[in-house]
Amino acid sequence: MHDDDEQVIRLEDYRPTDFLIHEVDLLVCLFEGRAEVRAALTVERRPGSPEAASLSLDGDELTLTSLALDGERLPEGSYEVSPEALTLHGLPASGRFTLSIGTTLEPEKNTKLMGLYRTRGVWCTQCEAEGFRRITYFLDRPDVLATYRVRIEAPRAAAPVLLANGNPVESGPLEGGRHFALWHDPHPKPSYLFALVAGDLDVLKDDFTTAGGRKVDLAIYTEKGLSARSVYAMDALKRSMAWDERRFGREYDLDVFNIVAVSDFNMGAMENKGLNVFNHKYVLLDPDTATDGDYAGVETVIAHEYFHNWTGNRITCRDWFQLCLKEGLTVYRDQEFTADERSRAVKRIASVQLLKSQQFPEDQGPLQHPVRPTRYREINNFYTATVYDKGAELVRMIATILGPERFRAGMDLYFERHDGEAATIEDFLLCFEEAGGRSLERFRLWYAQAGTPTLSVRETYADGRLTLSLSQRLARGAAGTGTEPMHMPVRFGLVGSNGADMEAVPRAEGAKAEDGIIHLLEEKGEVVFEGLPERPLVSILRDFSAPVTLDFPQSREDRLALARLDPDAFGRWRALADLVGETLADAGRTGFSPADAAPVLQAVAAGAADEALEPSLRAQMAALPGEGEIARLVGQDVDPGRVHRARIAAMAELGRIGGESFARLLAEGAGEPFSPAPDSVGRRALRNTILAFVSLAAGDASRAERQFAGATNMTDRLAALAVLAHHFPREAATRKALERFHDTYAGDDLVLDKWFMLQASAAHEDALADVERLAAHPAFKLANPNRARALIGGFASANPLAFHRPDGAGYRFVARMLTELDRLNPQTAARLATAFRSWRSLEPGRRELAAQTLRAIAQGKQISRDLKDIVDRSLQ
Ligand code: PHE
Ligand code: ZN
Repeated sequence: MHDDDEQVIRLEDYRPTDFLIHEVDLLVCLFEGRAEVRAALTVERRPGSPEAASLSLDGDELTLTSLALDGERLPEGSYEVSPEALTLHGLPASGRFTLSIGTTLEPEKNTKLMGLYRTRGVWCTQCEAEGFRRITYFLDRPDVLATYRVRIEAPRAAAPVLLANGNPVESGPLEGGRHFALWHDPHPKPSYLFALVAGDLDVLKDDFTTAGGRKVDLAIYTEKGLSARSVYAMDALKRSMAWDERRFGREYDLDVFNIVAVSDFNMGAMENKGLNVFNHKYVLLDPDTATDGDYAGVETVIAHEYFHNWTGNRITCRDWFQLCLKEGLTVYRDQEFTADERSRAVKRIASVQLLKSQQFPEDQGPLQHPVRPTRYREINNFYTATVYDKGAELVRMIATILGPERFRAGMDLYFERHDGEAATIEDFLLCFEEAGGRSLERFRLWYAQAGTPTLSVRETYADGRLTLSLSQRLARGAAGTGTEPMHMPVRFGLVGSNGADMEAVPRAEGAKAEDGIIHLLEEKGEVVFEGLPERPLVSILRDFSAPVTLDFPQSREDRLALARLDPDAFGRWRALADLVGETLADAGRTGFSPADAAPVLQAVAAGAADEALEPSLRAQMAALPGEGEIARLVGQDVDPGRVHRARIAAMAELGRIGGESFARLLAEGAGEPFSPAPDSVGRRALRNTILAFVSLAAGDASRAERQFAGATNMTDRLAALAVLAHHFPREAATRKALERFHDTYAGDDLVLDKWFMLQASAAHEDALADVERLAAHPAFKLANPNRARALIGGFASANPLAFHRPDGAGYRFVARMLTELDRLNPQTAARLATAFRSWRSLEPGRRELAAQTLRAIAQGKQISRDLKDIVDRSLQ
């Protein structure tokens, strides 16, 4: 245990480096089978740091080939090399000096996809969080900011395109069929933002002129033959650039902005300065191969990475504990972008659904951690829903508390004060306290205290007088952090029977109420409204203004009324979604009862049919929560089989209740031509949601079969195929459709991922046998993260019935796959292992089997630190 303890990195141990690195001059020579790197670092002892301090540069799987100080070879004994570091002694006490370091690497063998690796013949890098140390020895931490000059030399035939960060300086031919390119990035940056790409790529070009008149050349590079599929990504990029100027006054700051899409990538995308590298899933689209969900994903990720140019790159993080400083803020910014470009209510509902389905289970289980963690063993495991999505909620709460003008003033101050720096959450919050003129003392606890707080609300009404009593409670969970009351902004409205908000001036105690927001700062608070003309419907937590579990025993009648009348669209959705959630949680405990569920399902059908709402919102009203979300609401002793059956029964019942009106909706829309515009997307979503209900109600696959055969876009085709595969797994038509889909798209990896995913997530008795067969399919490649995620993730996270088989065979299959994947790509294996995170809330039989499986993984001989960290914390 002691050994393990020493590997823990702690926030309280943060210390600035003893040395500064001002400039990095890199020469990267690429050859088939190897790469040679020469780094010339301009270094200086930090004024005031001890003269005896040695310099310890991080390294990982590197071979050192040369080492010199100001051009002189370093003598033996003046340095040491270990697997993790190059340590230099006796360096100059003052003044700048140059360290020249030679290393060699084997990009072709780099299956971890961190550092310099090769994907489909293309050389590319991934350095966040600690990948630069796999290229050269360096102070590989975010508070060491340097300017970079990078020269790439490579064979022209294999790599006609040579890219790095910043602006292009020079390029030209070399002997032996080789050529070079020189790039310079004038903006000081941490090493995790370094990138280079070399390969034979197609390109789509465009340009953008900033508000300040700078013409920026834009380019999106893709593998050969695919550049027609990056048109939408380019459009999203230009809209993002314009939006950041309009909304936050942020302009782009280089002459070029390049994006490269690659097939093998551990995450979604990476914001390297001036050279974003993307998982091609978040670039490549056309109606025939991508769904509406893919379009939304591309728009979001393109915007997200672009917005990092200011929130992440110009202002970066002092250390990795501050990760939410860039990620939470940038997610908030991309959410706002989508809200402005499309529909605010629809985007907010989608974000809340994601938060509840991904972040809440994390926050309520063994992998719980605060938004700003204070310790870690492996930083790769902290790119989590808590850091990203709860982190975004915290920024949103600051905006809610301060209001739009003061929030913008706080952001302006942050950009002005910290540009070019590596900042902390404290720096960030201080800007809002100063610009907002308001203390955030009780608010900042949100960054330190893990867990989902419960907000309890009670209402009493008599004689025109409504009292709302609020209280908050935070249980101590796995992270063991504090449980003090926090500043909770609670947005609300009092809805009259005419469907309009009442004007009401509140009186408050222990809480403040202004502009439709109750500020709860203590454990308890009370707000009283007087002189009301009638008893209002209380619409609470509008906009999901705080990331809490709401405990509000509002009557079913009131909530059904709000689902019809609330003038706030989010409020309508929330009232209905909470009712549906409770109904399905009850069904997941004791079985589905059509009579109990009828009024709620009628309201769902009415929401789906309400033509006063925009189509996407109708689709959201119609959708039932997923099995994972229902399981979370069940709480303890969950039987995933029962949850599955309850949900299917509810879907079929909903199809019966929707009857005529659903049939009409399906008939009306058939044949609508494809457009990525929001209304068109919404209508497809609504129809495809209903298609499943109607098919289940009728016990008839023929509608889905017809839709599959006649579909003119991937959204409709895949939705129909999903109905077949999930609900009619044994029909010959399903087998045929799956085969046809495979044969049509056999050469298209992104579509094949959907084919794997769809079957891996199909819930039926033979699901495990199917998935084992798919794992042996010639197109299954464990080393490709998208493919591994499609099959293993599709099974472990999207197929609760089969993953949680009562005999434990689902768990054992996933354990086998993860152990194998761990040897190739620990980061991806660790991420997929989080599928076990809610094991403690299972019924005792499965709980024991899951625990056994986790223990068996942990005892694996060659287990990586990444996977071990997740498994150990899951078991703790
Ligand atoms: N920083 C990336 C993003 O959020 C995510 C990422 C993390 C990518 C680590 C690669 C490695 O945009
Ligand atoms: Zn990000």
